[in-house]
Amino acid sequence: MKTPGGPDAAKRRAGEHAAELVTDGDTVGLGTGSTAAHAIRALGRAVDDGLDVRGVATSYASRDLAREVGIPLVGLDGVERLDIAIDGADQVSDELALIKGGGAAHAREKVVDAAAERFVVVADPSKEAATLDRPVPVEVLPDARATVQRAIRDLDGTPTLRTGKGKDGPVVTDNGNLVLDCAFGAIGTPDALATDLATIPGVVAHGLFVGLADEVHVGTADGVTVRS
Ligand code: A5P
Repeated sequence: MKTPGGPDAAKRRAGEHAAELVTDGDTVGLGTGSTAAHAIRALGRAVDDGLDVRGVATSYASRDLAREVGIPLVGLDGVERLDIAIDGADQVSDELALIKGGGAAHAREKVVDAAAERFVVVADPSKEAATLDRPVPVEVLPDARATVQRAIRDLDGTPTLRTGKGKDGPVVTDNGNLVLDCAFGAIGTPDALATDLATIPGVVAHGLFVGLADEVHVGTADGVTVRS
């Protein structure tokens, strides 16, 4: 079914719906990507109307947007926990397992989203899948690229170094690392793969988020569906 207004309208519905969950005094994780950006803009409008919050950015991009719309910011190194985080995803399974990292921001996103009392995912219907099957972004120390690639192949994965647009050579993350997009086919046991990836020396963070999301807000044709 087509979503009236197209995918961006669905993303906007989801982002604005989730932003309404933020209350006075909250410390809010600000996700990265086009759907989370709608939530950040909605929060900026709420701040204009008097909402008292402080945001924690998950990337240069979300920090810049938050500044543009007037959300007061605090550094991630200045918080131990957050009240709520609102973030997008590249794929969401029926069990609310996620693949993130399409914007190469998943290392900071995982720290912020996991530290939030309430982690709210915002998405359009194209992100929903019974079983995760997209390539998993894996952020690696630059010098560990070859050893991590070998370890991924040992897990029956196919790693591809992510290359830049508007820049020759590899994508370099906000943390100065590289990204391998690792195809595993259908991921039947995301929790097991998450553990395997996390234990590879040189892996900084992978894009499987298992057991972290509390709810998913999906923009639909006529509103928003919430799954938890
Ligand atoms: C950033 O690295 C990702 O985790 C994003 O949250 C994800 O790619 C979703 O982006 P869109 O909302 O633009 O689809």
